[in-house]
This record gives sequence, structure tokens and C-alpha cells, in this order.
Amino acid sequence: MNIIWHEKTKQFHLYNDEISYIMYVQPNGEMGQLYFGSRIHDRDDFSYLTYRRMKPMVAVEAPEEDFSMELNRQEYPGFGGTDFGMNAYEAVYEDGSTVSNFKYASHRIFAGKDKLEGLPATYGSDEEAMSLVIILEDTRSKLQLELSYTIFQNYPVITRNVKFINQGDDEVILNKALSACLDLPDQEYEWMQFSGAWARERIPVVRKIVPGTLSIESKRGGSSANQNPFIIVKRSNTDEFAGEAIGMSFVYSGNFLAAADADTYGRLRLLMGIHPDTFRWPLQKGASFTTPEVVIAYTDKGLNGLSQSYHALYNNHLVRGKWKNRPRPILLNNWEATFMDFTQESIIKIAAKAKEAGAELFVLDDGWFGARNDDYAGLGDWVENTDKLPNGMKGLAEKINEMGLEFGFWIEPEMVNPDSDLYRAHPDWAFAVKGKTPALGRHQYVLDFSKDEVVDYIYDMLYQVIDGANIAYIKWDMNRALTDVFSNGTPAELQGCVYHKYVLGVYRLYEKLIAAFPDILFESCSSGGSRFDAGMLYYAPQAWCSDNTDGVDRVLIQYGSSYGYPISSIGAHVSAVPNQQTGRTVPIAFRGNVACFGTFGYELDLNHISEEEFCEVQEQIKFMKENRQLLQYGKFYRLVSPFETDQNAWMVVSEDQTKALVGVYTMRSNVNELDGRIRLAGLDRNKLYNINSCAYYGDELMCAGLVLNAENTRNYTMEQDYSSCIIRLSAE
Ligand code: DGJ
Repeated sequence: MNIIWHEKTKQFHLYNDEISYIMYVQPNGEMGQLYFGSRIHDRDDFSYLTYRRMKPMVAVEAPEEDFSMELNRQEYPGFGGTDFGMNAYEAVYEDGSTVSNFKYASHRIFAGKDKLEGLPATYGSDEEAMSLVIILEDTRSKLQLELSYTIFQNYPVITRNVKFINQGDDEVILNKALSACLDLPDQEYEWMQFSGAWARERIPVVRKIVPGTLSIESKRGGSSANQNPFIIVKRSNTDEFAGEAIGMSFVYSGNFLAAADADTYGRLRLLMGIHPDTFRWPLQKGASFTTPEVVIAYTDKGLNGLSQSYHALYNNHLVRGKWKNRPRPILLNNWEATFMDFTQESIIKIAAKAKEAGAELFVLDDGWFGARNDDYAGLGDWVENTDKLPNGMKGLAEKINEMGLEFGFWIEPEMVNPDSDLYRAHPDWAFAVKGKTPALGRHQYVLDFSKDEVVDYIYDMLYQVIDGANIAYIKWDMNRALTDVFSNGTPAELQGCVYHKYVLGVYRLYEKLIAAFPDILFESCSSGGSRFDAGMLYYAPQAWCSDNTDGVDRVLIQYGSSYGYPISSIGAHVSAVPNQQTGRTVPIAFRGNVACFGTFGYELDLNHISEEEFCEVQEQIKFMKENRQLLQYGKFYRLVSPFETDQNAWMVVSEDQTKALVGVYTMRSNVNELDGRIRLAGLDRNKLYNINSCAYYGDELMCAGLVLNAENTRNYTMEQDYSSCIIRLSAE
């Protein structure tokens, strides 16, 4: 890994063994992009990659006569000069103009990576990462722009973010400040996004790139189930195993915009950042604004290769604390078993059975506080409901601990029901605009987390409940989109900051709780997977993937989630049948075989299943305990897509390639078919792998394929709905 500055040609080359990222100071002083992709040799001068010829009707950067930004690739483009593509930022100056002219002034190169104050971000030590900050100065004002880059030693990844600093006396208003722009020299790509809605999150959608713009966004306050802040552009012949692709992942949990702008000269511009429609940030003298981070990854090893880079980077350089790289506890959550209708006694019965099955953690979900007996009341009143918990959280935790289980519980700190003591005392703490009845979502309002006093108040209440009780886990939920966003008492000119400040408030509360209780495992949740993003993973190493726990639908949701997020982050539980969302009855084996490619747990009362099923649950938990390190942290491969076939197959391989687990699932039976065959991946060609009583070389399994016959799969068949199996491979 290195970052080279070629003084004479004013070019930067960031590289490691896998990738090169090259940029330069353009003739007009602004930063231009030259190359991003597979590692190439360094040279003093890459200016052959620029375009220096006149074209009719093209505006040129005077006094140059042959240089136009439009015909060249930009690092962080503004608007108003000779580039007419989608701009990455907009600054409004005192005189009302929006034309900037950021010229290279200086740069710093250093080992390691700086923290982003108040924001989630990847991290790396001096040995693991190297960073570059380029300082640009606006010739028209005293606004400074810092473009930051980090390259990691072992990942084909560049992280980027920017900082605006107002060093002048006059106020500057930022109307747009995206985090990164990537200008590619051709448009032969397809765009992949991960779309959905509640209970059908992160379904891959591929769109053709044609001249013009295409984009995805969230303006819901959170990153949303509808569009995930992660995109891929891939060559049309790229598949899971080979070919080029570039990913952009936003380390942020609020409103975002991700766009592809294909111009009519063949340039493809990718942009990602905070959504400008809900953003207006005044910068007074001396003030600065730092954007969140974008993680840009490159692969020529297909989509599996791209995903594996994100998985490894996020496991090793985003997740922090005690739970980093640790196998996750097998939990039972009472939500689908009881909803809010429980007593301490009924909870203990459920927990006892979970313990008997081998679970390690019991999670008490919604309904333990205030007047919370249904979803009309109580949110905001983070005090135990003593009718349900006569000895408080501490008392229940003690009882659960005595059984040999860890204990955790549910919170939704960003919300308030109109019917709550908190709202009655502080109605002005909920978002609302004068003269309009605020919209409700699940009968609740959103608290104004842009205000420190609100965040601090909620922290104090939660602290009282957690402190003294032995709490191992917290599920942090968020069950509605933001509407009526207006911060009471905040000056008019700062209302455009509220959406972003809200997210900063969420991060601040997380940070305070983590600082006070560093060993707690946080699981983020937002009506399931409505805020499943890289920003959240910095605080909560796992995320409840979806409220849809149906085995078949979960295959699709977990498959889609795996493109951008590690298996260790995917909250996956076995729930009761018929499934509450789909009405489908899928065997417990199938449900378990899907959930084990995730953080694994149960979402039902095990007292209510048959003895035979209970034995199966005990077996599943035993299997998970033996294999979770491999399942959650092994190299994950998507093998057969459930979006293209009636089957699904995926696998994980240990780092030393001696162990692998393959999950195979029939979503819909195919009658009168021959045994299927799946080509495995990631094995050592020369190792002999045992599967039941058979043995095959890695090259056989990867080239000829694993035949899905009775010897290899025991009882799996493609001829029966919901048939599934996990095949274990082991080699010397
Ligand atoms: C939505 C979550 O996704 C569920 O798992 C559950 O925690 C409920 N909220 C509780 O209200």
C-alpha cells in the first residue's frame, strides 16, 4: 500500500496489491480523476488519460484553450464552470452566487486513518491504512475544501469523505455536500440497487445505464427499506464469480442520494451522499461541515468478490468493541410469541424452554415499560411496568441469569406516543410544524433528536433501567419514517440542518450508551430492516434483517442483504408457522437452515411446538454452536440465485479452506427432474473433501460440481417444496 505524489505532474497514485486510484491537479487547479480499477504500474505522468483537444461548442477553462472539465473526469465537481454533469456540492456565497472555484493548495499524506467526529466510519491502524487529505481553496471566498481518501493494505477499497471549512468572515450556505464522486471513462455498466419495502427488503434490481441520470434515494429520515444506501455498477458479463464491478456503500443512516449520471461523451459519474433536498447547512465564520464516509470497492472477481471485500472490511474495520469478530449468542426473542401480552411468569416459562433447547440469551421485546399494552401508548416512558415486571428489569434479569441465560431487552428511544407521560410533559420535543396536525406512524411521533437535551434526557432514562441490571444485549428499534420535520425553538435558518442533526443525535445516543456499557451487544432494527446500513454497523454489530420471518422469503431477503453486508450482521430467527406475515408453513428444518446463515435465534414459544420439532431445535442449536464461527465469519459465496431459479444455494468456506458448509434450498418443487448439480466455490483444488461417506477433490466440486444425490445430501430433493439441507465439507 502506498500513496505517491508526483510533484512535477501534480498527480496522486494510491495503490495496494489489488487496486490503483489516480487523480491529478487539472490545468485550472481543480482536482480531476484519472483512473480507478485493478492495480497498474506507477508512472510519473498519466496525463495521457486526459482529453486535451477542442470540440465545437464546448466551454473551455480560460486561459487554457484546449481544456474543458466537461470532457475530463472530475474528483468533486461543482456547478457553474465548464462541467455540466451532476454536481457533488453547492455552496451559496454572500453575494448569492453558487459558482465555486476550488483550486489545489496543499495536501497531507499520513499512516492510519483519522476519525470522523460524531460520525460512523471505517478505521485502520498505521500498518493497515494510509490516508491522503487534499486541501483546496476557493478563489472567490475563504471557503476551504478537504477531500479525504484512505487506502487499506488488504482490501480493494478506497474510503472518501469531504470537509468544508469557512475561513472567511462571510456566511456560506451549503445546499448540497455529497460525500464522493467517481467519474468512470465509459458507460458499459449495469447499475444494481437493493430495493423493497417493509417485510421485503433489499431485493436486487438491475437497471441499464443510458445517457441521462438514474438514482435512488431516501427522504424518510432513515436509510429505509425502500432503497438501501449501497449500489453496484457491473459489467454486463460480470456474474457472481468473474468480471468487474464497483460498489459504493454509504456509512450513514439518514436521507441519502445515490446517482449515476451518464453524459453524452461516454463519461459515467457516480455520486453518493446526504440527500440535498433535505439539507441546508449554513457555515458561519470558522465553522466546518464534515460529510459521512463512502466506501468504494473494486473487483474483477465477480459479485462474490465484491461482497467478500465489504464483508471482511466491515467485520475488521467498521464493527468495534467486544463483539467484533465474535460468534454471536443464540437468542430467543419473545416478540412473535407474546407481542405485548406477557407477565414475568409467562416470560420465565418461555425462557426456561429456550434454555432447555440450548439458547444462550433471552430477549424481552416491546411492552415492558410505561402503559405499553398495545402500540397506542407508552413510548417514551422508559420505566418498567411493574404490573408486568414486579421486580423491575433488574429482577427479571436476575431470574433469567439464574437459569443460565444472558438477558437483553428492546427499546425504541427515538419515538414517543402522544399517550405517554413524556409527550404530556414535553409536547415540543416531537417533530411538528405549527398549523398542521403531524402525521402519525404506528400511532407515534418522532422525537427531535437534533436537540441535545432530548437525547440526554432519553439517555438518563435508559441508563436508570440498564444500570445495575445485568444486561448483555439491547435491540434498538425505530418504527416510522420522519415527517413534519421542524425543530421547535430552532432558528429558521437552521431548520435545514435538522434531518442530519437528528441522525447525529441517534449516533450520539448510541455512543453514550456504548461508552457506559461497552459489553452490551446492540442489534439495530427499524420495523425489521428499514435502517440496515453500514452506519448502523459501527454502533450495532448486527441488525434485525426483516419482520418477515417466513423461511422462503427470508432466503430472498438474506440473499439480497449479503451483497453489501456480512453474514455476522444479518439478524435471522426461526419463527412459528403458519408464518405471521405470509401464512406459509415451511418445515422447521428449512427455517433453521436459512436462519443459520445469520446471527441465529428463535422468535417463538418453544413450549408450543411438537416434541419432534423441539428435538430438531436442540439439534439446530448444537449445530449452530459448533459452526457459527464459520457461518458468520467464513468466506461467503452466493452459488444459485433464488431470484433466477426455484432453488437457492450459498456456502461459507473457512480461511484455511479445510471446512465448508453449503446450504441448499428448494423454494418450489420441480417434478420429474434429475438430481441437481451445484458448482461450489472457494475450495482448495487439491484438497480431498469428505462429505458424509464420500470424498471429492476441491477441483471436482468446483468444476464438475457437487451432485445433489442421496449420498451427498441425505434427504434433500428438488422434487419437494421446502426441502433443504446443509452439506458439511471437511478436509485434512
Ligand atoms: C418492530 C420490530 O421489527 C419487531 O421485531 C418488534 O421488535 C416490534 N417492532 C416491537 O414493537
